[in-house]
Amino acid sequence: MAAKTLGVGLIGCGFMGRTHSNAYRRLNNFFPVQHRPVLKVICDTVPEKARQFMEVWGYERAETDWRKLMDAKDIDLIDICVPNFAHREIAVAAARAGKMVICEKPLAMNAAEGEEMVRAVEEAKVPNLISFNYRRVPSISLAKQIVDEGRVGKPFHYRATYLQDWTISADVPQGGDALWRLDIKAAGSGVTGDLLAHSIDTAMWLNGPIRRVVARTETFVKERKHVVSGKVEPVGIDDACMFLAEFANGSLGTFESTRYARGRKNFNTFELNGADGSIYFDLEEPEYLQFFEYKQQQSGRKVESHLTGWRKIHVTNSEHPYMDRYWVPGTCIGYEHTFLNQLADFVAGIESGTPAQPDFRSGLQTQKVCDAVLESARGGRWMEVAP
Ligand SMILES: NC(=O)c1ccc[n+]([C@@H]2O[C@H](COP(=O)([O-])OP(=O)(O)OC[C@H]3O[C@@H](n4cnc5c(N)ncnc54)[C@H](O)[C@@H]3O)[C@@H](O)[C@H]2O)c1
Repeated sequence: MAAKTLGVGLIGCGFMGRTHSNAYRRLNNFFPVQHRPVLKVICDTVPEKARQFMEVWGYERAETDWRKLMDAKDIDLIDICVPNFAHREIAVAAARAGKMVICEKPLAMNAAEGEEMVRAVEEAKVPNLISFNYRRVPSISLAKQIVDEGRVGKPFHYRATYLQDWTISADVPQGGDALWRLDIKAAGSGVTGDLLAHSIDTAMWLNGPIRRVVARTETFVKERKHVVSGKVEPVGIDDACMFLAEFANGSLGTFESTRYARGRKNFNTFELNGADGSIYFDLEEPEYLQFFEYKQQQSGRKVESHLTGWRKIHVTNSEHPYMDRYWVPGTCIGYEHTFLNQLADFVAGIESGTPAQPDFRSGLQTQKVCDAVLESARGGRWMEVAP
């Protein structure tokens, strides 16, 4: 039985508000941590949404102004699930109020804002986490384990794609629920911060820091109606972004993201090629990790090369990351469990004194790569990533 309570104040009743609330509710069903999350306050600027969310997910009260959560004595943890423009102000206020902070990705609108957020949580010494939840897909955690075990060997290539197709129509407006992603003032950038931030975080987790980038972005639809103003306004975000990267370990990366890949809904893949092996992941088959192991000798015998090939590992055994918490081998878990695994790691980090990653400082490094990518696209030249 979890002995300590963790009072939660969650801000933003949209897509991420739901995934995070689900994780709080189920944490103690699956993970033997000492803390029990208590859903204290839900906050959204739209009162009706907040009230309905409170009832559906079982929060104790609803607010429309996030500032009220900062003084609430019963809140230990502020969870930021609002559009990117509001991350900085809320996170800094939460840290100053002595609250733990979980913030959705990307950390901020740009690295300057991110620096301020890192300063605030480090000065206040409050536990903090950025929600790059894909790290907690068991197959991606297994990829990390395989890399750390040295099975890929000297890395040469890293290749990531993140493709969607929902903004092809010029009739899709900008601004408002979910569509704030098309409004530069709310999002900070387009696919770079929204999709490539995930790819960059995973890439640097598996393959180390990125030193230099050269990028090309495109905005295919130049003007869209803005839901709030009702007027047709210029589109400031990048609809597509492709960049080349040099990693500190000498390997080369290619990253591609767009919302104009007809038929692709949330196509998130990566491949790492090293001297001794390769790994490949595709979010459309999330319970599989593909692994190629290069060996010339096995058990003292020459490897029979006509039998070598890629292995498609079904990542559902109890030996696989996180899977001992769930069902029997051969049965799989889903997207929502990545948020549950993430929360479990965060709480375990508080309890053990070894903070879970990625924290805000790690999120800032991804933000710096995003900034360098966008600056490179503007100037048409290679950009060093700020240290
Ligand atoms: N980790 C992931 O895979 C993932 C996936 C989607 C979104 N995100 C991130 O999560 C954040 C939220 O995205 P979403 O898809 O949930 O958006 P959403 O549009 O579905 O929901 C956002 C909610 O925040 C509310 N809101 C806006 N400003 C507010 C404010 N100042 N105070 C209180 N409430 C406010 C809106 O009314 C809305 O209900 C973004 O930063 C986004 O980049 C992460």
